[in-house]
Amino acid sequence: MDMPQDDNEHLMSDSRSSTEVDDSYYPQKPRNWSRGWVLHLLILGINIGFGIFMLRASRTSIICPESTSQESLEFGKLRKHELVLTEPVIEYQDQVFISSGFHRHAHDEPSIYETPRTHETDKAWEKLTTVGFVSLTAEQNSQLANSTVESLSRPGTYPVALGVFHQLHCLNYIRILLFPQEGDGKGETDAQRAHHKNHCLDYLRQVVQCHGDTTPLSVYYEKTHSGYAFDHAVTHSCRNFDKIYDWAAENAADLHIE
Ligand SMILES: *[C@@H]1O[C@H](CO)[C@@H](O)[C@H](O)[C@H]1NC(C)=O
Repeated sequence: MDMPQDDNEHLMSDSRSSTEVDDSYYPQKPRNWSRGWVLHLLILGINIGFGIFMLRASRTSIICPESTSQESLEFGKLRKHELVLTEPVIEYQDQVFISSGFHRHAHDEPSIYETPRTHETDKAWEKLTTVGFVSLTAEQNSQLANSTVESLSRPGTYPVALGVFHQLHCLNYIRILLFPQEGDGKGETDAQRAHHKNHCLDYLRQVVQCHGDTTPLSVYYEKTHSGYAFDHAVTHSCRNFDKIYDWAAENAADLHIE
């Protein structure tokens, strides 16, 4: 109990010294009064100046992402190791998933990505995976947790692929294996296919677990089966994929990896 008393005493003596000013200590009171104001104005000026500086600093990092370093990226729209250059195109939106396969609402039309495999379906999937490579500068590359190699055809540039596009490639690879057609898998040996298949499946497992989506999936009572079923067409909070796709298309680097 000694400490709080000590503290109280301290506070009281502090406040006494600042409020109970003995006039006799300050014979030239008017001058002192104006000095106080000068000091106040000075502090106010410093505060405003600092405020403007902070505002400019935060604006710079949002509008000019190239001035924000990969290392300074901690919290915000992007996760720590995502490419800082993509921050301006990250936008969240409510998105109602389509049931895909288990269509029970008349308005819930099958998507172009669903089977049966047609020329149109294959083209739609292909389009998703034709972008994704972007070129970094040496400086940007040096900030990555895992740096990339210098381009052979364009020295001074450093190619990387954005995760989402490789993930879509893997999903498409599995789709083709599930619904095989004449002419699939050209240029791949059986051994290569076995590795590729394993890679894509387990890679996607890690992606799903990494994102850890905790959106509640509601259920409904399915009379025909006398049991509950998932209502897959619920609202999720999603990144606007079109914006990411357009950015990747505009910034596409000339590189292809199988
Ligand atoms: C990427 O960086 C992490 C952390 O330093 C490291 O553990 C991992 O082995 C690196 N991967 C490659 C392919 O170098």
